[in-house]
Amino acid sequence: MGKLATILFLCSMVIVQGIDEGPKAVEHWFKNLSQKKEKVTKLHFFFHDTISGKNPTAIQVAQANTTSQSPTLFGSVFVMDDPLTVGPEPNSTIIGRAQGIYASSGLEEFGLHMTLNYVFTSGKFNGSTLSILGWNPILHTYREMAIVGGFGIFRLARGIATAKTYWFNATAGDAIVEYHVIVHHYE
Ligand SMILES: *[C@@H]1O[C@H](CO)[C@@H](O)[C@H](O)[C@H]1NC(C)=O
Ligand SMILES: *[C@@H]1O[C@H](CO)[C@@H](O)[C@H](O)[C@H]1NC(C)=O
Ligand SMILES: *[C@@H]1O[C@H](CO)[C@@H](O)[C@H](O)[C@H]1NC(C)=O
Ligand SMILES: *[C@@H]1O[C@H](CO)[C@@H](O)[C@H](O)[C@H]1NC(C)=O
Ligand SMILES: *[C@@H]1O[C@H](CO)[C@@H](O)[C@H](O)[C@H]1NC(C)=O
Repeated sequence: MGKLATILFLCSMVIVQGIDEGPKAVEHWFKNLSQKKEKVTKLHFFFHDTISGKNPTAIQVAQANTTSQSPTLFGSVFVMDDPLTVGPEPNSTIIGRAQGIYASSGLEEFGLHMTLNYVFTSGKFNGSTLSILGWNPILHTYREMAIVGGFGIFRLARGIATAKTYWFNATAGDAIVEYHVIVHHYE
């Protein structure tokens, strides 16, 4: 093979490995795990949780009959498809979505149980996801949540997402939250 042909071949291999999600490809990827290098990726973005207005991105889907009397709204459950953006402005470039569920799970302290996926839609992370499972006591300055996995570039990822409220409108219930994510995954 000529040099150019070799380069083109290698490029197509990389592309195929990147997008091939069939069971054989996954098995191959798994078998070769010990030869792969671990790497650390840091991500920074803003999460826009809008429950008010005509176009909410998070909606309440359930609550207990006691939720409205609870100071922590214990038992309320929301489903979200919240945009993740580069900057805090509402019109900032969207790099992905946070899709999943949060539920008020603290009887005494305001805390959310979070189960969601970051679904990335731009750049080299386009089509990759990270799965988050965590406790989010929203009145704390920093909340740490576990990254328990992912797919695409982030297969078998593990790491930490740190949340800090950037803006909160208590009347509307809307929030913009700054996230720093650090994640271990494979090259
Ligand atoms: C296994 O992964 C390493 C590092 O990514 C790569 O150099 C090697 O070619 C892979 N082997 C196979 C059989 O795919
Ligand atoms: C909530 O529902 C339970 C079970 O049906 C009932 O026993 C309880 O009285 C209800 N509480 C209120 C505040 O309605
Ligand atoms: C976002 O909105 C601000 C204020 O409304 C405006 O100044 C800015 O140009 C907008 N940015 C983009 C990328 O649309
Ligand atoms: C992300 O990937 C999808 C599906 O492959 C593609 O349609 C889209 O144009 C990509 N978006 C960006 C911003 O690269
Ligand atoms: C907070 O939300 C309320 C209700 O939607 C709205 O009237 C008010 O202008 C908002 N405040 C800020 C600072 O955005």
